[in-house]
Amino acid sequence: MTQAWTKRDWRSKPRVQMPDYPNQAALEAVEARLAKMPPLVFAGETRRLTSALGKVARGEAFLLQGGDCAESFAEFGPDLIRDTFKVMLQMAMVLTYAAKVPVVKVGRVAGQFAKPRSAPTETKDGIELPSYRGDIINDIDFTAEARIPDPERMLQAYTQAAASLNLVRAFSQGGFADMESVHAWTLGFTEGAGANRYRDLAGRISDSLDFMRAAGVTRDTAPTLHSVDFYTSHEALLLEYEEALCRIDSTSGLPVAGSGHMIWIGDRTRQPDGAHVAFARGVQNPIGLKCGPSMEVDDLKRLLASLNPENEAGRLTLIARFGAGSVGDHLPRLIKAVEEEGAQVVWSCDPMHGNTIKSASGFKTRPFDSVLREVREFFEVHRAEGTHAGGVHFEMTGQDVTECTGGVRAVTDDDLSSRYHTACDPRLNASQSLELAFLVAEELAAARPATQPEQAAS
Ligand code: PEP
Ligand code: CO
Repeated sequence: MTQAWTKRDWRSKPRVQMPDYPNQAALEAVEARLAKMPPLVFAGETRRLTSALGKVARGEAFLLQGGDCAESFAEFGPDLIRDTFKVMLQMAMVLTYAAKVPVVKVGRVAGQFAKPRSAPTETKDGIELPSYRGDIINDIDFTAEARIPDPERMLQAYTQAAASLNLVRAFSQGGFADMESVHAWTLGFTEGAGANRYRDLAGRISDSLDFMRAAGVTRDTAPTLHSVDFYTSHEALLLEYEEALCRIDSTSGLPVAGSGHMIWIGDRTRQPDGAHVAFARGVQNPIGLKCGPSMEVDDLKRLLASLNPENEAGRLTLIARFGAGSVGDHLPRLIKAVEEEGAQVVWSCDPMHGNTIKSASGFKTRPFDSVLREVREFFEVHRAEGTHAGGVHFEMTGQDVTECTGGVRAVTDDDLSSRYHTACDPRLNASQSLELAFLVAEELAAARPATQPEQAAS
């Protein structure tokens, strides 16, 4: 981070995927109001997350990042947040048990409102309108009026993010995250017929908890069994919002994005000389960088240098999203580039964004099998390269939606219409998310050093 960086630098760089606000005065008024609001997250918290991710980069921890594709103003409420939080904790517990290392939990929540789109317009019944870009920018209704970018939406997004974060903080620290209850919820899932292959692992977790209780390790003697660290993240796409919430950390004197603990740069906005990189490089938060099939080795090297010039472990997470069947074509060359630079990164796998298809019934979906296959390929490549498969990045919800096909409680093409609620991409439902955690757990257990007893026995 150079001395010269300012939070406005991005304004002189080429920008993509950002709205043109028709009313400049209204935009500036909103920016001024946001700039006076308290930040949503604090610098000390972001530093703690960087340090936790540093452990992931070194192979001493695992990253679980997940949540909505797009948070929505209409689909918002305490139960939705609670249920997503609950499933994330269940997933984390299964993964912790399998990996035998801490799991760093990061939600796509409390700020995940702005969406990059593959086309600037959308056509329905012969009518062409600007694309929906997320509730922080315009409205999903298919009318010309609804699609006009409205800066006031940033204030609503900020308020919703503050309320969400307040609840997440309460859930994390207030006893809701108690390990025994988290595991009790999971036992419900493993009772189903299709889930019996997971019963053994769930049973072993139960045994461990029983043993700990018998040995006197309880929530009174070990408060960490009772609370969790849970962080927020989102794509830093709408830079007016990000700039307005950028603050100077009073401890380090460095700028920090106050909009969320971790921010990431999307696959469509990662131009090394572009606006999004220009913003992210100057804030001290952990940064994610999506890497799709079009990521060139030279660009990656430039991005490593510009986003993490001090090569701090935990600062940069590379989120690979190539699509099932394509991981082997791309990940090895990117891993080699990272190794050549001696760069410290977290490698995470997003098995969602390269596997979106249109179903026969017309819905955008993701076959659970492809999601799974991409995760397996990611682990395989890392095993072959001798590098650490550090984390996973999912779009999921705690609700019983029907958006992705497959899973033990099989969702079929014909089911998609019954509970398809996403404002953007199809998400895994609660049961699919947990199933995926069990499958990732199997990969993690296989990846652990052979000296550990369970590996030797299998
Ligand atoms: C997303 O994470 O919702 C997203 C749009 O991802 P990507 O930039 O990888 O396409
Ligand atoms: Co998405």
